[in-house]
Amino acid sequence: MAAIIKIENLRKVYPVGKERIVALNNISFDIEEGEICCILGTSGSGKSTLLNQLAGLEKPTKGSVTIGKTNISVLSETRLAKFRQKYIGFVFQSYNLLPAYTALENVAMPLMFRGVSKKKREQKAKELLKLVGLGKRLSHKPTQMSGGQQQRVGIARAFVSKQKIIFADEPTGNLDSKTTREVMELMVNLCRKYKETFVLVTHDRDLALYADRIITLADGEIIKDERNQSIARTEEQIAAEQTAMESKEESKNTEE
Ligand SMILES: Nc1ncnc2c1ncn2[C@@H]1O[C@H](COP(=O)(O)OP(=O)(O)OP(=O)(O)O)[C@@H](O)[C@H]1O
Ligand SMILES: [Mg+2]
Repeated sequence: MAAIIKIENLRKVYPVGKERIVALNNISFDIEEGEICCILGTSGSGKSTLLNQLAGLEKPTKGSVTIGKTNISVLSETRLAKFRQKYIGFVFQSYNLLPAYTALENVAMPLMFRGVSKKKREQKAKELLKLVGLGKRLSHKPTQMSGGQQQRVGIARAFVSKQKIIFADEPTGNLDSKTTREVMELMVNLCRKYKETFVLVTHDRDLALYADRIITLADGEIIKDERNQSIARTEEQIAAEQTAMESKEESKNTEE
């Protein structure tokens, strides 16, 4: 498969007073189209810095990031913003939903920037919200939803415009373990369904196991790059387990 992101000799140095913090050094790797890739590392290892360079939110000190055929490290801010709008989606740890808007409006928002008609926007947003299990929460505002529900709205928003690449920085940081599993499987399955590339940043090895590939960072450098058999269940497996559990419950009830 072809590389969709090419990272070459990336280096990022932050000046702090008279000091210089080397946050990333000598980073080179490719991410293939459709890959579910996890960047794993302890706090301060450079994960968010790397994600920010990959998504074009910050400019590297040295080296380059190429997405498709575009070297994004040399784009102007205006062109970068357009590029992101067209190809890149984000899922944030803190959901980043607009509090005054409903779930439907939040999810439809990215489509407005792309000039999609109101009717189509609402139709697509509804479709995505149904996919993430929130078909009955369309007119709820963020404060009227649980953390897990808000995160699913955030996921629906990231996936609504079928971007090429989805970046997620600790997307389940605020969720309990059951919801974390649901949210991770949801994202992996949406990526597989729409053939999107997924780059996940986390400090949690258990979460990394949902990825096809785990790249470990330490002190701004790659110390390990390994393949992984994703533990995400397919939609069919999840549905089958659900049915099995329900019929078990039922037989238990009839016995009683
Ligand atoms: N804007 C900045 N200015 C100065 N130093 C920074 C800046 N951003 C990050 N750093 C430093 O770069 C290093 C990497 O930070 P980064 O935020 O990438 O870590 P991280 O792996 O995402 O950690 P965490 O898991 O805590 O989010 C740290 O030493 C941090 O202090
Ligand atoms: Mg971070």
